[in-house]
Amino acid sequence: MRVKFFGLDRQYQEHRENFLEIAERVWSSGKVLQGDEVKSLESYAAERFGRKRAVAVGSATDALAFALEAAGVGEGDEVIVNALTFIASASAILRVGASPRFADVEETFYQPDFDRAEKLVTPKTKAIIAVHLYGQTFPTARAEAFADKHGLVLIEDAAQAVGAYDGERPAGSIGLASCLSFDPTKVVGSFSSAGLFLTDDDGVAKKATMARYHGRDPETRRIVRLGFNSQLASDMAGMLEYKLRQLPDWLERRNEIADRYKSGLADIDDLDLPKTRPGSTHNWHKFVFRAKRRDELKAFLKEREIDTMIHYARPVCDEPLFAELGLPEEARDVPVARRLGEEVLTLPLYPELRDEEVDYVVEAVKEFYK
Ligand SMILES: Cc1ncc(COP(=O)(O)O)c(C=O)c1O
Repeated sequence: MRVKFFGLDRQYQEHRENFLEIAERVWSSGKVLQGDEVKSLESYAAERFGRKRAVAVGSATDALAFALEAAGVGEGDEVIVNALTFIASASAILRVGASPRFADVEETFYQPDFDRAEKLVTPKTKAIIAVHLYGQTFPTARAEAFADKHGLVLIEDAAQAVGAYDGERPAGSIGLASCLSFDPTKVVGSFSSAGLFLTDDDGVAKKATMARYHGRDPETRRIVRLGFNSQLASDMAGMLEYKLRQLPDWLERRNEIADRYKSGLADIDDLDLPKTRPGSTHNWHKFVFRAKRRDELKAFLKEREIDTMIHYARPVCDEPLFAELGLPEEARDVPVARRLGEEVLTLPLYPELRDEEVDYVVEAVKEFYK
């Protein structure tokens, strides 16, 4: 049995009629950019994520850079960010000319360690990009208290946490601005690159709107700054709204699969299975666990045609781009993230995965440790 890592192809087959209907409507209208679907997605998402304003953009990577820029972060400023995350969380900092300071994650839920991040704060620190990792939420009140204490702008990287909650608060509702990703590998994945910028501040939303389209002021339509082209296509916006409306069902199935993995693998002493932080929900963007002899296990599963991935093999600060910046030692002192890089493994998890495939994966892991 072949178990693929992603299920976007199966999702397409299951919802084909709906997707094609949206494509037909948009394409036959000729309004393939800046169409009604984009506005509709923005107003639906603002309500769904408890925000005043939503700006659809080309990617969360762009959204993060737009957020820093809107917050006035630039040359000479320092920004704290998770060490264990996708590269885009940190590259946004370089894009605006600021300098990253890497915060380690804690051992249990792999969320940012705000206690240890204290030592990263200097008079130059202007913002913190806090990343919800793997699909559950970091403690949002703790993040806010950290930012308040040090007078920092809080930017929420919710790329992986769409649909997750911290208590009553949805991921996407925290800080000055929140950045969501609809990259094809995400819980709500577009058939393209796509992202969303969320904020409660009209001025910040306006800055993101201008950054998204060539620096054009949305009211005067004059070009007032240097901007980008980061538009979300109308067909993708229409399909994303449709997909967001399916999310409750998809989350239920994702949780079922996670439970099936957890109960199937519970008796293996050599594994440290994922734990959900009390108070948080999990969208199971990634089912990440720690494994003894990780690389051998990965190779063993590959032989059985089971795809796995590693999130992440090393902290972002150890990638050459960041390692060559010559950052001070304490700005990349992240022992937990480094250790996790050698131990973590991610199993396939998407709503379209069948129970027999999940069981096949479980049996293969058990066989390896037998
Ligand atoms: C934590 C995190 N931040 C940012 C991004 C960037 O998102 P995008 O691919 O939409 O640019 C991703 C994923 O791709 C991510 O996982």
